[in-house]
Amino acid sequence: MKPVILSLFNDDFVIHAIAKLQGYEVGHVLLRNFPDGESYIKFQDNLHLNNRELILFTSLDKPNTKILPLILVAETARALGARRVGLCAPYLAYMRQDKQFKPGEGVTSVYFAKLLSQYVDWLVTVDPHLHRYHDLDEIYAIPNIALHATQDIAQWIEQHIIKPLLIGPDRESEQWVAEVAQIAQVPYIILDKNRHGDYDVDVSAPILGPYDGHTPVLVDDIISTAQTMLVVLQHLHKSGMKKPVCVGIHGVFSNHAYDKLIKAGVASIVTCNTIQHESNGIDVSWLLSEGISKFINK
Ligand code: R5P
Repeated sequence: MKPVILSLFNDDFVIHAIAKLQGYEVGHVLLRNFPDGESYIKFQDNLHLNNRELILFTSLDKPNTKILPLILVAETARALGARRVGLCAPYLAYMRQDKQFKPGEGVTSVYFAKLLSQYVDWLVTVDPHLHRYHDLDEIYAIPNIALHATQDIAQWIEQHIIKPLLIGPDRESEQWVAEVAQIAQVPYIILDKNRHGDYDVDVSAPILGPYDGHTPVLVDDIISTAQTMLVVLQHLHKSGMKKPVCVGIHGVFSNHAYDKLIKAGVASIVTCNTIQHESNGIDVSWLLSEGISKFINK
């Protein structure tokens, strides 16, 4: 029988494309809260999971509200006989706390990975924030694939931006920015960032002299508070360059971050559809379907 793919939190924005590409059945699970806040879970009546591959699909932005229902759905599927339960989480949360920055802090990336590894058989994600970790295997105990959206981003830039100059706001962004620049055959610069708090970020001023006439394109993996991009935008506005374009792999956009970026005077804001958002302009459904297919025995 065909493998089943289902979305957990109405984030079914790409599962139909994936199902079509790979020949999977799209399933449904009812997930609601009892009046006391506990989760109620029920798979659709005619969905036979016995001995079938199940692909759970959800982006893990707002992870605290999603993780427990996700675990309960995975366990229910196993109880109903699913052969394996895998997770496609285009955005993987809890990757940024990858060391103890201050005494007393928890290295939550490790604990989250340990938890998830207990409940799903495999994991597919897109560009997880690998900074101090070089591989998901350092914290995840399950088979996993970290896909890269760089090819899709490069293609979007080639098709939409005339004479781009890519700008990475911090050292860790170089891994994405350099690859996109190489594929699109365009120049790039990398800045230095210091984060002092959630909304307190310093980024070095870019040296733009050699790039007169270029369109600045800020490229980062995550746009969360957007503070990183906002600080770079301030530098760019002073430089008199063309209006910048902001490209994020994962548009988390916490607390009106998207509106703040728009108000800051950008030409456009474009994200990959790893988290459903109106800024989604770079489609990674084919990439996700290829990644998932590596784990599926049809
Ligand atoms: C962190 O190092 C990431 O690569 C991003 O630069 C960061 O997550 C952006 O966060 P925010 O939008 O809150 O400044």
